[in-house]
Amino acid sequence: MDKLDQLVNEARTAFAAAADGAALEQAKARFLGKSGLVTEQLKALGGLAPEEKRERGAAINRAKTAIEAALEARRDSLRAAALDAQLAAERLDVTLPGRGPAPGGLHPVSRTLERIERLFHSIGFVIADGPEIETDWYNFTALNLPPNHPARSMQDTFFLDGRDEVLRTHTSPVQIRAMLAHAERHRGRDIMPDLRIIAPGRVYRVDSDATHSPMFHQIEVLWVGERVSFADLKGVAVDFLRQFFETEALQVRFRPSFFPFTEPSAEIDVGFMGGALEGRWLEIAGCGMVHPNVLRCGGIDPERHTGFAFGFGLDRLAMLRYGVGDLRLFFEGDLRFLSQFR
Ligand code: DAH
Repeated sequence: MDKLDQLVNEARTAFAAAADGAALEQAKARFLGKSGLVTEQLKALGGLAPEEKRERGAAINRAKTAIEAALEARRDSLRAAALDAQLAAERLDVTLPGRGPAPGGLHPVSRTLERIERLFHSIGFVIADGPEIETDWYNFTALNLPPNHPARSMQDTFFLDGRDEVLRTHTSPVQIRAMLAHAERHRGRDIMPDLRIIAPGRVYRVDSDATHSPMFHQIEVLWVGERVSFADLKGVAVDFLRQFFETEALQVRFRPSFFPFTEPSAEIDVGFMGGALEGRWLEIAGCGMVHPNVLRCGGIDPERHTGFAFGFGLDRLAMLRYGVGDLRLFFEGDLRFLSQFR
């Protein structure tokens, strides 16, 4: 075989053996590079006679063209193979089921609140609210907690610099706001209809452990009318708690206590028959008959009207209902915890 044909064959074999672009470029240099085998042939032309040179030159150029064509063909096939591999690797299985939108759900504290609101709504209570940044007067003074009263220290909170305002420590100030609005609405009439409200909302204290968070939720219950008695308080509170815990067997105990805004005052404890909490009394709420000074601050005549109030921690009730051991879980926003309540 002619030397040039042999060279073309060698190049074809070398190109075919190149497994990727880099190997192919190396093989190309061996034949077509500056000191490659084809160039070597061209250099050798120098020593030939003109006639011979032309023939030989043309033959070398044909060989060179054939080698270049082989190179281009191999380049194309390597490129196609690379594309095929990429397509195979990136293949999408469009028949896989989609991920779908993650269903949201109500926070356990919101669920508990909605339930409680429904229960109170069913016995004629309406929902009232007030600001979380409350004046000193509504949060303390009007509730019979004048400046320097020792009971203020039990509700340490954040005071706003240079303003007569605090982050409210309880929902009790809504009692005053609701009474003032009610008294105003019925001013000048012979008869004032009963005021029955519940006031749920966020409250703040300097407190933090497994059962206390610096922000938590309370619900205030208030009923003011002409013949409201402690018996009404007991009836409403016991009935509410039995409905909330869905058991008639729930024990409810009223233990004498002190709150400046009620007289007499009591603590409400519940006791469970059976279950993990069997035999334990849990303090659930503070309550009492609204103090005459508080009625007066609410624009209501204590000679004619009486009222009862109670207040309890909403989160505490949610913990008991759902068997949650650490209050802070409610406020950490961890979906692994929260999604269990969907
Ligand atoms: N405000 C009280 C507290 O946060 C709870 C409370 C006690 C509310 C007695 C009341 C009540 O309405 O009558 O500790």
